[in-house]
Amino acid sequence: MAEERIDSINTRNTSVQATATYQRNIFTTREGIHQELGSNITNLLFVTQENSPIGSTLPFVYEKGLWKVSSKFYKSLPKKATFDRLTRCSVVGNSGSLLHSNCGKHIDEADFVYRCNAAPLKPFAADAGTKSSLTSFNPSIFGKRYKGIAKQSSLKKFVSDMQQYHGYLWGACFSGRSTLDLCMKAISGYNIKENVFVLAHPYHYKSFHDYWIRRGKKKLPSTGFYYASDALSRCNETHLYGFWPFPRAFDDISSYNVSYHYFEKLENEWKEPHAMNIEFSILVQLHLLGVVKIHNGKCE
Ligand code: CTP
Repeated sequence: MAEERIDSINTRNTSVQATATYQRNIFTTREGIHQELGSNITNLLFVTQENSPIGSTLPFVYEKGLWKVSSKFYKSLPKKATFDRLTRCSVVGNSGSLLHSNCGKHIDEADFVYRCNAAPLKPFAADAGTKSSLTSFNPSIFGKRYKGIAKQSSLKKFVSDMQQYHGYLWGACFSGRSTLDLCMKAISGYNIKENVFVLAHPYHYKSFHDYWIRRGKKKLPSTGFYYASDALSRCNETHLYGFWPFPRAFDDISSYNVSYHYFEKLENEWKEPHAMNIEFSILVQLHLLGVVKIHNGKCE
């Protein structure tokens, strides 16, 4: 399926419903986002010494309570986020539509590459690339993949697996106190030089969540959609790959099955909680307005 066919493909997909018309000049430029969310928004992507001085407090996202920044915690933080305005960004979603796309080189040509949920890199380099400037992970992987990092051996395995990523490894750790405790335990055993383990800033997520709520999008943003929103706030060009939250896709001749993830078969994940079809329809509208570029199908 050729890239430029995305518009006609989407009109044929009945799951994609137009939700609203998003006007480019109102909010989708970097300036528009900064005007609405504050000019400091780009510095809040993760917790730093600059944005979280000793004695300040940070809220948990899914439970009540505040985390007070102690001097020990403060010392463990990076000084500041060292990127602001970027020229070209790739945001890599995890859809199976990336398979056989040959987009790896294209993705890696960006100055900054966002990746979601610690998706494996090397075996998929041709289709998904290997550059990683910011890679998210949900601390639930400690339980799912690393036996709750209860033993030193599982912590070691976590640290070793994370060596494949460069730039920032961005943990959504402020969901609750016990999650943060686990992250702090992992950070204390984190001694690799390939990347910097950073903590997602709760105000940043909340700002973008509220931003989309004001536009009628009620459900929690998926990581990919959230990263695409962040990219709009700091990148001149935002390119999206691996965004196809549907079990079937079309080429010129027929339709074919698409797995939920490009790196594994996960049939039951299609009942996902984020309403990705709505997110996708928003992204398509932004694509049609020329604000983002969705790459679907083969990269030349
Ligand atoms: N995605 C997509 N189509 C899919 C799978 C994923 O468009 N078939 C996008 C979504 O924006 C998603 C991102 O790629 O957030 C990363 O995918 P995944 O790791 O599957 O995210 P989930 O675990 O489903 O959701 P979450 O956003 O909570 O991390």
